[in-house]
Amino acid sequence: MILRYDRLGVEIPSGDPDPAGAMAVQELMGGRFGEMSTLMNYTFQSFSFRGRKELRPFYDLIANIAAEEYGHIEAVGATITTMLTGANPRDIVANGNPAHALKSGKGVLPVDSGGAPWTGDYVFSSGDLVEDLTHNYFLETGARNGKLKVYEAVDHPAARALTGYLLVRGGVHQVAYARALELLTGVNLTKAFPMPRIATDKIPECRPHLHRGSHRTLYRFTPDDYRELGAVFKGAHPETGEELRVEHPAPDGFAWPEAPPQPDVFAPDYAPDEIAEIAARLRRQAGFGDPRARRAA
Ligand SMILES: [Fe+2]
Repeated sequence: MILRYDRLGVEIPSGDPDPAGAMAVQELMGGRFGEMSTLMNYTFQSFSFRGRKELRPFYDLIANIAAEEYGHIEAVGATITTMLTGANPRDIVANGNPAHALKSGKGVLPVDSGGAPWTGDYVFSSGDLVEDLTHNYFLETGARNGKLKVYEAVDHPAARALTGYLLVRGGVHQVAYARALELLTGVNLTKAFPMPRIATDKIPECRPHLHRGSHRTLYRFTPDDYRELGAVFKGAHPETGEELRVEHPAPDGFAWPEAPPQPDVFAPDYAPDEIAEIAARLRRQAGFGDPRARRAA
C-alpha cells in the first residue's frame, strides 16, 4: 500500500514562463533515464522479488527507493507545471511541446523531451538480483547524467532547484546499489563513484541538500517497514568518507507551488470562477470554510 503526503521533497520556486525549458525537463519525467523509469523499474522489481524473507535487506532497499522515486515524479511534475504557468499557448506551440497546450492544461505529460511517450520497455526486471542491481546502478548513472544536462540547458529557477535536488538524491541511490552489489559479489563499484563525474558541491542548488547531509542519507518512506535496508546501506560514503545513515521519518518537505487557473487552455475550466464557487459552497457545507476568505483574513 502507498501512503501519500501532499508535500514535495524540494521547494520549487516560481519564475517566468518557459515552454522550451519545460519541454527539456520532460526528459526527466518520461525519458529512458527519467523518474518514471526509476520509479517503475524498482516498483516492478519489488513486485517480482522472490526470496523476500531470506533476502529481506535487499528487498527493503529496492522497495523503499521505489517509494522515494514516486516523490521524484511529483517534483518533476510540479516543476514542469510551474514553468508552464502563464505561458502563452502560441508560445508553447511555437517554442515548446505543443501537447502542453493542445493535450493538457499547461501541465506535465508522461513523455520525454521529444514528446515520445514513456514506455514499459524501459523497465528491466529480470528476477536475477545481481543483474537487476547492476542495471539499477547503470540506470542511476544515466539518470544523473541526464539531470546534469538539463541543469546546463535550462536556467529557469524551478528546473535548477529540481535538478540540484535530484542530483544529490540520485547519488545516494547510486551508492546504495553499488553497496548492495559489493556485499553480494565483492565487486566494489563504489570505486567507480561518482560516475558520471559530477562535483555536486560546485553546484549552488545542490549545496543546501549536501549541507543537511542528504547525500549520505537514505530516508525510510514508510511508518514502520523497510527497516532492514540498514543492513546494506552502511559504511563510508565512497566520495566523502562520511558514515552512511538511514533516517526516519523523511524530512517534512514543502508545499506544492501555486498552480493558478489557466483559462486560455480551459484549466480547470473555461470559467474558473464558476467552478471555484461550487467548490467553495461544497467546502462550506462540509465545514471546511472558504479558502479565499481565509487568505483575505
Ligand atoms: Fe529519482
